[in-house]
Amino acid sequence: DLLDLVITNARVATAADTFDANIGIKDGKIVVVGSFLPPAKKTIDAAGRVVTPGGVDAHCHLDQPMPAPMKMADDFETGTRSAACGGTTTVIPFAAQEKGQSLRDAVRDYHRRSDGRAHVDYTFHLIVSDPTPAVLNEELPALIAEGYTSFKIYMTYDDLKLNDGQILDVLSVARQHGAMAMIHAENADCIEWLTRRLEAAGQTAPRFHAHSRPMLVEREATHRAIALSELVDVPILIVHVSGKEAVEQIRWARGHGLQIFAETCPQYLFLTAEDLGIDDSYVGARCICSPPPRDRSNQEVIWNALRDGLFSVFSSDHAPFNYDSPEGKKLDGKEQPFRHIPNGIPGLETRMPLLYSEGVLTGRLSLNKFVELTSTNPAKAYGLHPRKGTIAPGADADLVIWDEKDITIHNSALHHAVDYTPYEGIQLKAWPGLTLSNGEVVWDGKNFLPRLGKGKFLTCGKPTLMTSAR
Ligand code: URP
Ligand code: ZN
Ligand code: ZN
Ligand code: ZN
Repeated sequence: DLLDLVITNARVATAADTFDANIGIKDGKIVVVGSFLPPAKKTIDAAGRVVTPGGVDAHCHLDQPMPAPMKMADDFETGTRSAACGGTTTVIPFAAQEKGQSLRDAVRDYHRRSDGRAHVDYTFHLIVSDPTPAVLNEELPALIAEGYTSFKIYMTYDDLKLNDGQILDVLSVARQHGAMAMIHAENADCIEWLTRRLEAAGQTAPRFHAHSRPMLVEREATHRAIALSELVDVPILIVHVSGKEAVEQIRWARGHGLQIFAETCPQYLFLTAEDLGIDDSYVGARCICSPPPRDRSNQEVIWNALRDGLFSVFSSDHAPFNYDSPEGKKLDGKEQPFRHIPNGIPGLETRMPLLYSEGVLTGRLSLNKFVELTSTNPAKAYGLHPRKGTIAPGADADLVIWDEKDITIHNSALHHAVDYTPYEGIQLKAWPGLTLSNGEVVWDGKNFLPRLGKGKFLTCGKPTLMTSAR
């Protein structure tokens, strides 16, 4: 039987190894990987270029309901378009429960927002903000059984945060039903206390956002999250780890044999607190995210922890708000005190090229480590492996062919709906030359080829990630 497509002369890289092969594709799946050259309707010559599995961005926010007038700039259409052009073929945004809302309702609403609107495959994490007895005893177990096998817990943000007792309750459900709990670890009371002090002193410019959330606020919450995980005896994954102090807590936990997974993001490698402003000008609002970017020495700590296996997952935490918009960073059409500036920065499209160029091509990370962090491990952590996250017969034909070339990041060339990128002007040495989603070209290196509505909702299995001791 004729294959649909064969990619010839590929330098195939998986999390495990690198080898030369042809990749045969039929009905959107990889059916053969090897030197054998099967007859196919279409051939793409990779010409010795590196071919990796498509990226799995396991932490991004798309069309997430927000208190008005705040509104996310990207929905499933623009978000998955942008992802594809940057080599990401699976996205996992969040179906967020509002306090008072049933979890089931939040999931239904999020399906309405995504159905028929995605160019690449997707699934959801749940955000549990109101762990009522009905949620803990009925809704969450039922949703986990249906394939919603991961959820996020917040230790900060008034409308989302849980107290320690509530976190223990939710972690117990994760343990009993085999789900992966992601934790946003920052101490809410410390942040509120510091914010009030800064406000009393008139220090409300964007740069003071970083002063309101110093590393110890993250360190304390990280330590507490680890203790809660140990008490319940269940693995957790600490998201968007920003620097040395949280890394030290996670290293300590690993050293004690605890199953603590961790994620970091591009902003902690490529931005510093100075990007929030060195004076009281407002442009720094563009780089406000939580936890905030730290300093150069902390960037090095994050690079080292990526290399040595402390981090399992590298995600964007794409949280898209326009800068010059009353729905975004200039909420209500005004420059706001930092307390009211929407938190988050865009990064779906730039995540993979930034790490490939500044990680792999500088020698900081092996190619295999790059694949593990951007694709294989996120697929394992959230029950999508081996359908996603690898190049092997039976896997979905989600692939990236990498072009090694000089390219400068300009927002005008990106495909999200956000009016800026925090990475404007950064010079890279690589970009995806081709992205395949389910065997179809969705990005050819120059043009986006829409496949609106062909991105499928993925039902997740149980997490299959294990920590290495360190
Ligand atoms: O500032 C951020 N990261 N906003 C997005 C929401 C979150 O906490 O991940
Ligand atoms: Zn978070
Ligand atoms: Zn986030
Ligand atoms: Zn530009």
